[in-house]
Amino acid sequence: MTTIDKSRRRFLGTVAAGGVTLVSARPQGAGAQPAARTPRSGTAGKPAVMGGTPVRTAAFPSWPVQDSREEQALVTVLKSGKWGRGGGQSKVSAFEAQYAAATGAAHCLATANGTSALLTAVNALDIGPGDEVIVAPYTFIATVNVILARHALPVFVDTDIETFQIDARKIAAAITDRTRLIVPVHLGGSVVDMDTVMSAAAPRSIPVLEDACQSHLAQWKGRHVGSIGTAGCFSFQASKNLNSGEGGALITSDAGLAERAYAFHNNSRGQGPDAGYAAPGLNLRLTEFQAALLSAQMTRLETQSRQRETNAAYLTQQLAQIPGITPAKMYPGVTRNAYHLYMFRYDPSGFAGLPRAAFLKALRAEGVPASGGYAPLNRERFLASTFATRGYRRIYGEATLREWADRNQTPQNDRLCEQAVWLTQAMLLGPRDDMDQIVEAVRRIQQHAGDIARQSND
Ligand SMILES: Cc1ncc(COP(=O)(O)O)c(C=O)c1O
Repeated sequence: MTTIDKSRRRFLGTVAAGGVTLVSARPQGAGAQPAARTPRSGTAGKPAVMGGTPVRTAAFPSWPVQDSREEQALVTVLKSGKWGRGGGQSKVSAFEAQYAAATGAAHCLATANGTSALLTAVNALDIGPGDEVIVAPYTFIATVNVILARHALPVFVDTDIETFQIDARKIAAAITDRTRLIVPVHLGGSVVDMDTVMSAAAPRSIPVLEDACQSHLAQWKGRHVGSIGTAGCFSFQASKNLNSGEGGALITSDAGLAERAYAFHNNSRGQGPDAGYAAPGLNLRLTEFQAALLSAQMTRLETQSRQRETNAAYLTQQLAQIPGITPAKMYPGVTRNAYHLYMFRYDPSGFAGLPRAAFLKALRAEGVPASGGYAPLNRERFLASTFATRGYRRIYGEATLREWADRNQTPQNDRLCEQAVWLTQAMLLGPRDDMDQIVEAVRRIQQHAGDIARQSND
């Protein structure tokens, strides 16, 4: 655990985003090199899915980006013989200081992955059997798995279809006497309406754990995500904007929580030679290799973030002009979007009734990899099978678990899961021409949507 004092505070291979495996952007060697342009065939050309020439044959920028910085960092750790964090100064503690400074947090704890950062936080916040935890349904399963790992009950609050984020206006109505935690998820790099979340939490002083696993450097009214609630968690898994293959971090301004979190991630042992095994714990430590990689990746994070923002703003301006395409909106309080994903909604009525699956297939055929994103998490089988376990039946009783399904209807989220389209963050790291080709591909599909629909029905 690295603590920085207040005066120092300032301030795809295969692509997996949010744990969902997406269509590959074909590798193009190391680095975010501008893609070689394919001559345009124009929107009027026959769609590739119908045998025409694809709008694009060049690969989008590959991910991760690496050069001699990463190579040197890894070799230095290798030769040092110190491969695990141990006590005192380490590559891990240096990265923690760097990430705390970058997010304006007082404390940062690096962990083995984002899931373990969340698990550490949930444990340090003493969430357990019988507790209800309010959570977003539009998220990767890990957000919910850590709640279930503590035998607590997830309570899903519906999604704001316009922003793809939890609808914070609906949180207050979901709070009961048993609510012990609220987990907003800053999805896709964007940011939840944190003012409304914090107002809902305040009357009962309910802790807020920000799942910022997809939103590195994103900001709400100038404050970094993860530093607004009681604690915030990040993932450095391979698809993430900051990447060490696997890795995670917890940030907080609560010194007590930071201490409990350190002990939890360090097999119950706190900091200092006399700490002993004083608290609940597991081994969830980050290695020196991962920390060295992260510090090297940090040297590019700001520049890459700016490039994603610039390209995303242009893409939004262009795509918003196409009937049937609605880019995800941001709340006015979002002062920075990390664009881990570029997300929009697809309405078949703007495309001669062409179903989303056929649209995605046609888009991929044009050389633009895209996915439909998440399925409704609160309808997945893992919940029913968890609730069927002996432990859950004993804690909650059959009646409560049966009623759970009635309390956890999220119709807007169900709609969003049918309409969403995702592009991955590395696609935003190329030149503006790449954005133009994405737009060109969408326009071409729209122009020929009726023919594509008829062909897919044949
Ligand atoms: C929203 C969200 N929460 C939690 C996680 C879990 O992070 P990790 O895969 O590093 O365990 C992820 C990442 O995959 C995520 O996207």
